[in-house]
Amino acid sequence: MRESEEKYRSLFEKMLNGFACCRIIVDEDNRPIDWIYLNVNDAFEKITGLKKETVIGKKVTEAIPGLKKDSPELFDIYGRVALTGEEARFEIYLDTLKIWFSVMAFCPQKGYFVAVFDDITENKRAEEEKKNLQEQLFHAQKMESIGRLAGGIAHDFNNILTGIMGYAELLKMQFPDTTSSVGQAADVILGGAERAANLSKQLLGFARSGKYNPVPLKINKIIRDTVKVSEKIFEKNIKVKYEFDENIKTIEADRHQLDQIFTNLIINAKDAMPNGGELILRTENLYFDKVFIKSKPDIVPVYYIKVTVADDGFGMSKEVCEHVFEPFFTTKEEGKGTGLGLATVYGIVKNHGGYIDVSSEPCKGTIFTLYFPVSEKKVIEIKKDITLIKGSATILVIDDEEIVINLAKKMLRNLGYKVLIADGGGNGLRYLKKKRT
Ligand SMILES: Nc1ncnc2c1ncn2[C@@H]1O[C@H](COP(=O)(O)OP(=O)(O)OP(=O)(O)O)[C@@H](O)[C@H]1O
Ligand SMILES: [Mg+2]
Repeated sequence: MRESEEKYRSLFEKMLNGFACCRIIVDEDNRPIDWIYLNVNDAFEKITGLKKETVIGKKVTEAIPGLKKDSPELFDIYGRVALTGEEARFEIYLDTLKIWFSVMAFCPQKGYFVAVFDDITENKRAEEEKKNLQEQLFHAQKMESIGRLAGGIAHDFNNILTGIMGYAELLKMQFPDTTSSVGQAADVILGGAERAANLSKQLLGFARSGKYNPVPLKINKIIRDTVKVSEKIFEKNIKVKYEFDENIKTIEADRHQLDQIFTNLIINAKDAMPNGGELILRTENLYFDKVFIKSKPDIVPVYYIKVTVADDGFGMSKEVCEHVFEPFFTTKEEGKGTGLGLATVYGIVKNHGGYIDVSSEPCKGTIFTLYFPVSEKKVIEIKKDITLIKGSATILVIDDEEIVINLAKKMLRNLGYKVLIADGGGNGLRYLKKKRT
């Protein structure tokens, strides 16, 4: 008997699971309010970090202060096991110890319970990480398919608009008198078509199929210029604070699209601060280490620049935050917002091989963080002003849209050029060959 008791004792001592034998303490209504540790093993010490001598013979409320307040359900479970004799298997996170436990509890004798447990914090963390990655992947796929749909519509829409706007321009050329009814009608058509073109341009931006002309540039200047323009619509009580790294690395980007990004972010920030506030614009150089990248599957480990746009406005709820990059998602009243601003920003950032993140808290403010990959190329100075050049040369126009071809033909002829038309790349090449022979 003694031998077998010794054997079991040594088994409990040596086993890898934590082990604790306890006596439950109840109040006058038979409700479990505490327990006393009668015995614990080495693994208990190792897992919980609590020394045997600080635990054995002690009440849990003394040995682990804070446990009762943080995890009252544990008292209910152990109480039930000790008082009813039911077994229990469960997983629980004890905030006091910052550990996830997998526990099996049983009752060796009424009023007592034994808990055998494991530390599963690592597994839980891995599970959580996997869930996060799946959610990010799902979100990326959803954005991708909305993008394809939006891009398809916007592309066709844009071609139709090019025709409408071009012919309205021609009408204006032929009826330059703006007081004539034809001239006025042409103006109205142009105004409406321009608004529609803006909308479709934003959609194309989101769908990442807009015109894209990346050049090596420094982002600080672009942001400063954009703020200068947007600042005109600011109330006086909005303070702009620049926190620029003056040695910011070069990125390759489309100036116009970057301008769109910061205009949208700045206007949103302004709208979120109707009573004034502070807008912080920060740039910094960054190297993504492997640990960071693990949680962002679509980022490649290289040098990036990080741009932060932060406001201390009214912020957003978690639900709003989850949808902000979707096209046509807006919380603004009708006529105030189309919900395309951030969708465009998202598309453009992706188009540049970048990444965008948002974090926000109601009543505290919002932080948008953008990452762009660094380029080794040299910055090119900007050429300004494009003027229409008249001439008499022959120009070959290639496009598969009849409406676009006809317009180009008329416009170029107005400038004095001879125009050849090809309705596709193949025909274009045939023309060229014929011309050479
Ligand atoms: N800085 C911010 N603070 C609080 N909420 C914001 C902020 N930026 C965006 N939002 C929320 O995200 C929504 C979507 O923004 P988005 O820019 O895409 O569209 P919009 O501003 O509503 O309309 P649009 O930009 O097309 O005129 C906004 O309606 C708002 O609810
Ligand atoms: Mg907006």
